[in-house]
This record gives sequence, structure tokens and C-alpha cells, in this order.
Amino acid sequence: MHHSLAFVSLVALAAAYPQRGGRQRATAQQQAAQIPQGISTATDGSTILDDTVNVNGLPIRFKISAPADQFLTTSGVPGAAATSPDGTMGVNVLLHGDGGQSFFDMPNQNLQANTMGVVLLAPDPNLFWGGGSGLQRTDGVAHAQAVSDFIQTELPQRVAMNSSAVVFTGVSGGSLLMSGFFIPAQMQNFPNSAVELNCGGLAPQVNFVNAAQVLSQTTIHFQSTQQELQSLQQSIPDAIVAYEQLAADQGLSAAQVNALQTVDNTPTGGHCEFDGQDFVSGVQTMLTSYSNVMQGGNGVVTGLGAPSTGQVRTGVVGNENLQFAGGRKRQIESMINVNWVRTLLAEDVVVVNEESVELLACDRVSC
Ligand SMILES: *[C@@H]1O[C@H](CO)[C@@H](O)[C@H](O)[C@H]1NC(C)=O
Repeated sequence: MHHSLAFVSLVALAAAYPQRGGRQRATAQQQAAQIPQGISTATDGSTILDDTVNVNGLPIRFKISAPADQFLTTSGVPGAAATSPDGTMGVNVLLHGDGGQSFFDMPNQNLQANTMGVVLLAPDPNLFWGGGSGLQRTDGVAHAQAVSDFIQTELPQRVAMNSSAVVFTGVSGGSLLMSGFFIPAQMQNFPNSAVELNCGGLAPQVNFVNAAQVLSQTTIHFQSTQQELQSLQQSIPDAIVAYEQLAADQGLSAAQVNALQTVDNTPTGGHCEFDGQDFVSGVQTMLTSYSNVMQGGNGVVTGLGAPSTGQVRTGVVGNENLQFAGGRKRQIESMINVNWVRTLLAEDVVVVNEESVELLACDRVSC
């Protein structure tokens, strides 16, 4: 059934694909569009709604994972029972890294601390949050605005939520958008929030709005690894220094800053490999212990790579100058992770151009 549907839509899309050497290439965004949306079941039995909505002219594909009865009766979700957007459950909004891997994995799909999970897919041909590439996120302003507007206007039309309990997660490129653009420009809309910045960090790239309120209320945790990508070995400490200084500028004491802003990069592992193993399981490890770190827990992440003790909430003051243990050459330039193309598309979709998968899977500068 899916075969024929996917095939028809591919034929329709084919004419629009960029071509090189007479061969058709699908962008990551076009490949993602081949993965059907709809309703599915999360690993903890929650219901996942996967759909796309237009926000400020940008197509925002989203997944919401919540108990079925928390969806609004108008959402089309079987078992939906909510009749008001005002609910009791919080929301953890996750922005994936370059290429969209964590959108498809949805490592925040299980309920935790009365908080549902939401993931959003970057409205960008390469599936980079903030567009551009590397540390240059040229569409950061528009993307941060779209994320904020989605949460405030679209999410409450689908699920009952506590709009005073919205927290965030960034992964790699998603962390660049969060720290570079979203926190300074949009966090004013989300009081008493928290942001876990996994394997990525960028000093604010835009004017900081309502800095006094945001910096005195927002919990920020920077999580990296010993063998982080070279460019991030510079930009993460730069972001830490910038956020710490901004908080101090608002009159926060060192103790107050340390209670809100924390950092850890003790695990041995490459980019996002927090469990010392790989990207997907590493990111899952951070999300499985999310509430321990970000929502008033004991600060311990279970399953971090050695030699980490698991306790990650070290205050930033005096710990800005992270020590790294080099990085594998192969990783230096590329933040792109698109394993989902193989695992989700290889079986179902026949027409995927293998060369374009390779192009995405490796650093575009070097291969
Ligand atoms: C919403 O979340 C806030 C912050 O955690 C909490 O103080 C408040 O009681 C919650 N409201 C409801 C209706 O659950």
C-alpha cells in the first residue's frame, strides 16, 4: 500500500529534483517527505501524531507524543478526549541535528516528569536548523520565530498542555539554533524554562530580548564529549562564556549562575556519543535521563561513557575552559547524521538515489 503511494508522490516530485550528471538527486528534505506521516504508538504506549503545518510560510513537520486522551477531540487522534488547550502536562520540544536523525528517532517520545515530547523537522532542504551550514546559521532568526510560533499557536490546537511548563532540547545543529537564536530572541515567551544543549553551542547571534527575565529564570545545560568536533570545541566554550557573562550582567551572583548554567564533557566519545558508543544511542542516553538534569532531578545521567561519574550538573563558573582530547579527523567538519535514510527508506522506497544518500552521509566538502 505504502509502496504505490510513495511511488506516485515520487514521480510527481521527480521533476523538481536538482540534477547533476543526468541523475536525479533528492534533498534530505525531499527524502524525509517520502516517510509517511500519520499516527503511531510510542515505545511507552503514548500516541504519536506526525503531521505538517505551515508557520510563517515555512513547512513545519512535527511529531507530538502524548497519552491519547490528552489530544484535542478535533485533532483526529483516536481516543482524543481533551476539549480545552489548557492541560496539566508540560512539553519537551527537541530540535534535531543536521540531517534530521533525532526527528525520526524521537528520543523524547516517552513521558517523563509529566512532560510530553515534541520534535520538529527543520524547514530546510538539508534539514539544518537555522539553515546555512557549520556555525553560520543564516536562517536562524526565521527558524527560531517559527519554532516559537508553532509552540504558542499550533501545538495548543492539537494537544492539551501546560504552556508554563515548556522545556527544550537541542542536538548538535539544533543546539546551535537554540543557543544562537532561540534563547535570546524567543525564550522570553517561555517562563521558567530549561534548555539541554547537547553537542552544540553558539554565543547569541542576535539581540537578547528581556535578558533580565530570561537569564534569571532559564536553566541551561551544556553537554559535550571528550572528542567533540573541532569547530564545536571552540564554539561551545565561547557560548558558555557569553551566557555566563550575560547572566552576570543582569546581576546574578556566581552561585546563582552555577545553579542555572551547568556543563559537562567528561564522557570519552565523539560528537554526540555521550554513551561512548554512537550518535543515536548517545543522544537517547541524554534524553532518557532528561528530567534528572533539567527538571529538578539529581543531575545524574545513567549510561554515560567512561570516565564520567554520571553527575553532569557542574556549574559553569570557573569551568568555561573545557578540556578536549582531540577529535578523529574524519569527524572534523561534518555534523551531518542521516542514518534514517537507510533504516527508514531503504526497505520501502525504491527510487531513492543512492549517490545522494552518500553525498549526505559524508562531509560535503571532502567527498
Ligand atoms: C503548570 O506548570 C507550572 C510550572 O511547572 C506549575 O507551577 C503549574 O502548577 C502547572 N499548572 C497546571 C495546571 O498543572
